[in-house]
Amino acid sequence: MPRLAGQQPQYIENQLRAFSERRRTNPIMANVSHALSPSMISALATHLKNLDSKPIGGAPRGAVGVGKRIYEEGLPESNVPACSACHGPDGKGQNEIPRLAGQLYEYTVGQLSGWSKVRGLGSGVDTSAVMAPTARNLTRSQVEAVAAYVSYLQ
Ligand code: HEC
Repeated sequence: MPRLAGQQPQYIENQLRAFSERRRTNPIMANVSHALSPSMISALATHLKNLDSKPIGGAPRGAVGVGKRIYEEGLPESNVPACSACHGPDGKGQNEIPRLAGQLYEYTVGQLSGWSKVRGLGSGVDTSAVMAPTARNLTRSQVEAVAAYVSYLQ
């Protein structure tokens, strides 16, 4: 399950819509998002943005250095762009681009490992397509490294 503290409001709104329209597959979240009105969603998104997002820690530290390099420089040889180009140098995200800083290690690993399965291939109405090739081009150990790195970002 993701940590939502400090998450970008527009991203939260987009994802709740994607759950509700079943572009992002999750039976529990589909029910939750169906029950929320648009005004409840924006109130919730504003509230989450203001919660304390300090890292909780706990991710393995061994590959954090490798993760930092992937985050800041990408992997040109594997067609992986620098994550910082979109998610920002400090991982805070903006608008439809989510905050990654302080995100739980297991959640980030899970999303990046099964991107297309969980989030679909994207369509004209969502931004999921942007991440699909990047997630596919990362190996498991590269996913673990970058997930560990962002989990420690403030
Ligand atoms: C071209 C811009 C761009 C680049 C480069 C990029 N991302 Fe993303 N990323 C996005 C967008 C947009 C989303 C939201 C997708 C959606 O709406 O489903 C996203 C979503 C994510 C998520 C899901 C977060 C969550 O809370 O579920 C993770 C994890 C992620 N990106 C990691 C990375 C990593 C790691 C890299 C570098 C290897 C990277 N991204 C590079 C734009 C980008």
